[in-house]
Parts: sequence; C-alpha cells; structure tokens
Amino acid sequence: MSIGIFDSGIGGLTVFKEIAKEFPEADIYYLGDTARVPYGNKSKETVIRYSVEAANYLKGFGIEALIVACNTASSYALDVLKENLDIPVIGVVKPGVETALRFTENKKVGVIGTQATIRSNSYLKLLEEKNIQVFQKPCPLFVPLVEEGIVSGEIAELVVKQYIDELVNKGIDTLILGCTHYPLLKDTIKKLYPHLKIVDSSQAVAEHLHRENLHLNGSGKRKIFITDESESFERFKQMLIGNIPLEKIDISQLCTL
Ligand code: DGL
Repeated sequence: MSIGIFDSGIGGLTVFKEIAKEFPEADIYYLGDTARVPYGNKSKETVIRYSVEAANYLKGFGIEALIVACNTASSYALDVLKENLDIPVIGVVKPGVETALRFTENKKVGVIGTQATIRSNSYLKLLEEKNIQVFQKPCPLFVPLVEEGIVSGEIAELVVKQYIDELVNKGIDTLILGCTHYPLLKDTIKKLYPHLKIVDSSQAVAEHLHRENLHLNGSGKRKIFITDESESFERFKQMLIGNIPLEKIDISQLCTL
C-alpha cells in the first residue's frame, strides 16, 4: 500500500520516521510545504486551501491513504479533505486524544500547539466529550526553537518552563504535544516534569494505523518532496531519517491542482 504524508514543513518528519519504522514495507510519499510554512499562524481558509493542494499533489502518486501530519491542518482541514478524497484520511488529533484517554488517571489533560491549533479547540472538543478537564496553551516559541536545533540545555528549558509550568500547576497528569515539532522537545519536557505522561502524535498515529489494520505493504519506497529549499529541513531530515534524497517541486505545481 502506498501512503501520503503531508506537513507544513519539517515537523511531519517525526511522523514519517515513526510510520517508516512501524510499516517498513509501505511506500511513503511525503510533502513538506516549506515554501508556505508556518501554517500555525494562518487563517482557517488559508490552511484549508494549502491542505487541499498538498493532498491533491500526493494523490497524483496513487496513494491509498493520506496522513495529515500537521496538527494545524488536522485541526482545520480534515473534514474538507475527507469530503474531497476517496481514500482514508487520517489526522493527528483523534489518535492523540485516544492515547491521552488511555494515559490520564485524574482526567486533567494539557494540550499545547500552535496558535491556530489551540484556537480551533480541536483537541478540547474531543476531550471534553469524554469529560476530561482540558488546559490549553499555544507555545509559539517552540517551532523556531526546534528549527534552530535548540532542543535541550538552558534556553530550551527556560522556554519549556515558561509555557508548561502553568499547565502543570493546574494539576494535569498528561500532556498532548499537539504540534509536529514538539516531539523533539520531549526529552527536555520529561526531564523537567518526570511525572507527566506525554502524548507524542507521531507515535499515536502509528498506533492508530495498527489498530485500523490498514495493509501497509508495498516495496518500501520513500519519496520526500519540498516546495522550497530549506537548510533546516535538510538538517532535520539527516538527524531523523538519514540520507533519503529530497526533491524540490515548484509551488506553482501545487497551486494549479
Ligand atoms: N506543522 C505545524 C503543526 O503541527 C507546526 C508548524 C507550522 O506552524 O506550520 O501545527
């Protein structure tokens, strides 16, 4: 089976890595929209338009399922994508919520993400349906921090504390990392708050796919496309998944679909 994954940029490679590890035989096509990143501070309409274009591009490779790795796109565009595509479309929000429901004992869950994801209340709505008390916080400094490779040490710890102390003080026992970049800060978060259970959406999606019983066998092909050159993408890719070559596509190819 061939599967498409898209994200606004580099962060979805955390999902790519997990899917490639769990389903080595699947053919995987990844699109990182590096020309238009970040999505996290864009309007709903713009996020939907970009997401539909990215999905249509990947559809051209005959993908049989689409993973929306970007939390912002999952929060705003999932329903539109499901309506427009005749293949399974899997976002990261529902799998993250499912994992949090298994983890939490005191029913107090923190959610962190981009401004847009938090504004959408996508996690909050699903969690509140299950009588979970939710504490949300946008963490806009996390994405640039991760893109600069500052994921541990004094500066990373200060920024993590700046955002997360407040949620921990509310008594949460579980924290959803509702953004593709945040798994890279997981070790620092764990070090500062060892008692917290942490939901990493990349792992949550892989677990969700196992439960869905999709037959993800193929020839193990890996293709990674980006819409603009990006040094941080190259660095991040090397660190996470090694030498898979990048192919740059012209953004106009997406916009005409
Ligand atoms: N991929 C985005 C997300 O998971 C983070 C980066 C961005 O703002 O585009 O929400």
